[in-house]
Amino acid sequence: MHHRSTWKNRWTFMLATAGSAIGLGNIWKLPYMIGVNGGSAFVLVFIACIFLVGIPLMMTEILLGRRAQKNPYDGMLKLAQEAQVSHYWKYLGGMGMLTGLLILGFYSVIGGWVLSYIIEAAKNSFSNITAAQSSANFDGLLASPVKLLFWHTVFMCMTMGVVARGVNSGLEKANNILIPALFAILLVLLGYSMSVGDMQTAYQFMFKLDFSKITPVAVLSALGHAFFSLSLGMGAVMVYGSYLQRHVSIARTTIYIALADTALGLLVGLAIYALVFANHLAPNAGPGLIFQTLPIAFGHMPWGSFTGTLFFMLVAFAAWTSAISLVEPAIAWITENTLIKRRTAAWAIGVVVWLLGVAVVLSFNEWKDIKIIFGLNIFETLDKLTSTILLPLGGLLMAVFAGYYMKRDHVQDELDLKATAFKLWRIANNIIAPIAIAAVFLYLFGVIK
Ligand code: PHE
Repeated sequence: MHHRSTWKNRWTFMLATAGSAIGLGNIWKLPYMIGVNGGSAFVLVFIACIFLVGIPLMMTEILLGRRAQKNPYDGMLKLAQEAQVSHYWKYLGGMGMLTGLLILGFYSVIGGWVLSYIIEAAKNSFSNITAAQSSANFDGLLASPVKLLFWHTVFMCMTMGVVARGVNSGLEKANNILIPALFAILLVLLGYSMSVGDMQTAYQFMFKLDFSKITPVAVLSALGHAFFSLSLGMGAVMVYGSYLQRHVSIARTTIYIALADTALGLLVGLAIYALVFANHLAPNAGPGLIFQTLPIAFGHMPWGSFTGTLFFMLVAFAAWTSAISLVEPAIAWITENTLIKRRTAAWAIGVVVWLLGVAVVLSFNEWKDIKIIFGLNIFETLDKLTSTILLPLGGLLMAVFAGYYMKRDHVQDELDLKATAFKLWRIANNIIAPIAIAAVFLYLFGVIK
């Protein structure tokens, strides 16, 4: 019989879920999205989305997982049966597993960029680098399919190697040290940025309230990124929740994770933008932003090669733990439904995702001009499709299921909240989150203006 493992205690669950949440989304994606979407307007909406939609829905996803005690597909089926509603809800779980694989297709390529920067930092290649040289280096990396492919392959092997061995024997112990270490080194970076960078402009850029700058596209991206950053809407948190013991408080755990995740992203943003403005770089440089700016800091600070190496290693680690959670739902489904061994499942899925990654690699060079939809190339299409559509859609459906289909007692049983807190969660889950997501979708499809 298949044996389901559980987390040793709440702390390991929290670190594993934080490990899933904290990743390239905070360090690579949030900073450049802030710049692309006009700074503070985006930050403000993003924070609102985390509190009004992200936190309540993270609780929802954990509660679904813990009640189901299964992978997302069978879990949704079981919960639907328990609530005596259509078995079609299982496809929500199926959609999540697929979404995870689509995300990993590009996540692994960016993870590869980070790996290659570890080596560059260790070789002291950033020493006294200028902004122009740094950008040229990054462009050189993107222009080389061979390099990108090599590092994408290494990242995929690292990810699948751990997944093949199973979640408990994986990285939870390392999480214990490395996530706090990531915070620590970030503070060092922030301190450096504060002393040499233009922190005041960065602060204004990120936090000055200016409602007039909020655009519909910024709202859409901010909502999507709240899902991406907290790993919501595709079943990763649900699977981790399914390994969680019964007595642990879901609400408290969620709030800690969401706060740590959001704080980390915003701190990286500040550190980056102080450097961007001090070096007269463009804030809207796009996906290359941190790879173009951080080498300038590491290239000029004392102990820069050492600090830079350590920094990129910790980022790679954070990306690694997130990548694992992107495939875990699919692997859990295969191992719980077939006789296929975890190891075989992991390598088979790995090959499929690796191939997707190859297409992403080429979309940065050889296939740059191949547009899939709305003038987006392969990388951009995967990114937008998952963050702005699939994750929010998954979240919307989970909220509707927990709010309107599950028996209220069952929900309360899992959340175990005091009356007022439960009411607040219900308002957020049943009303605010679905309306916010639906409104954004309607806008997206041009139904309302
Ligand atoms: N939250 C991860 C990050 O910020 C990415 C992720 C998204 C992981 C969805 C799992 C599920 O990097």
